[in-house]
Amino acid sequence: MAETVEIFEMGPRDGLQNEARLIPTEEKIALVDLLGRAGFRRIEVASFVSPKWVPQMADSAEVLAGIRRVTGVSYAALTPNMIGFERAMEAGADEVAIFGAASEGFSQANINCSIDDSLKRFEPIIAAANVRKVKVRGYISCVTDCPYDGPTDPARVAWVAARLHDMGCYEISLGDTIGKGTPETIGAMLDAVLGEVPAAMLAGHYHDTGGRALENIEVSLSAGLRVFDAAVGGLGGCPYAPGAKGNVATEAVHDRLVALGYETGLDREVLEQAAAMARRMREER
Ligand code: HMG
Ligand code: MG
Repeated sequence: MAETVEIFEMGPRDGLQNEARLIPTEEKIALVDLLGRAGFRRIEVASFVSPKWVPQMADSAEVLAGIRRVTGVSYAALTPNMIGFERAMEAGADEVAIFGAASEGFSQANINCSIDDSLKRFEPIIAAANVRKVKVRGYISCVTDCPYDGPTDPARVAWVAARLHDMGCYEISLGDTIGKGTPETIGAMLDAVLGEVPAAMLAGHYHDTGGRALENIEVSLSAGLRVFDAAVGGLGGCPYAPGAKGNVATEAVHDRLVALGYETGLDREVLEQAAAMARRMREER
């Protein structure tokens, strides 16, 4: 039987957060509901960040309240601090994610604090999540390159990954935030991180700005990773990473994985419909 590789769908969160048009809540709900039929086990649908920083995500609670939940699907939310965590719990998020960075410049620009301070902020979130038995995922941005600080030292990524692992994140997602990574730099970064965290607890989160995300996924598969983040229709970008284009497209990742002999458990037809819906949402500016 073919080995399974999981795609964690990012479209409703990473995909939409950077869209200039304020997308009506019903459109977001329709996208999540369609994605719920595709066979994903995890979909990131919300972000409980400051609405002043990311206005597009201000209706995250309404999105979570409006979706038709599919049994077995975990609906995830970003939570940068305790305010965000409490809001996510009230809204009924199934799991949460904290998000840090491997570069100081991006940490400051994205969450307004240093890497050390961000790790201190995450501790109470993990403690509160443990009490409620809610799983916490950890992101590390700028794992190969930072828009402010330039190339990232793989040892720095490994250090942050070890901290998030020690704190209790069940999985650590390695973000090539500006899509500048290459098979060489991604490979070197993974070599360092794998010295601290086993492959089974890592995910690749690659933006496709440089057009090399699929190659970077292949390198990561060789290193043992079996979870990849992607967004239908290649939606996406981070408001605090100038030039960061879309996440790698879910349908492209699916097709590459199938060509390589893996199974994803996803319905290609539904993916196509969701990609078309995502593209329409982007076009309607
Ligand atoms: P801050 O201004 O330093 O926060 O922002 P603060 O604690 O000083 O609070 C300032 C105000 O914000 C206060 O309100 C707080 O109540 C409010 P005021 O008293 O002025 O009226 N506030 C909040 N409101 C709602 N929800 C909250 C919240 N927290 C504070 N959670 C903060 C710090 C982290 C909140 C801010 O910097 C922020 O929201 N940043 C989010 C940036 C973001 O969402 N970036 C995109 C997601 S990350 C990403 O895309 C990368 C990823 O995909 C991986 C990759 O690709 O690399 C994950
Ligand atoms: Mg991202």
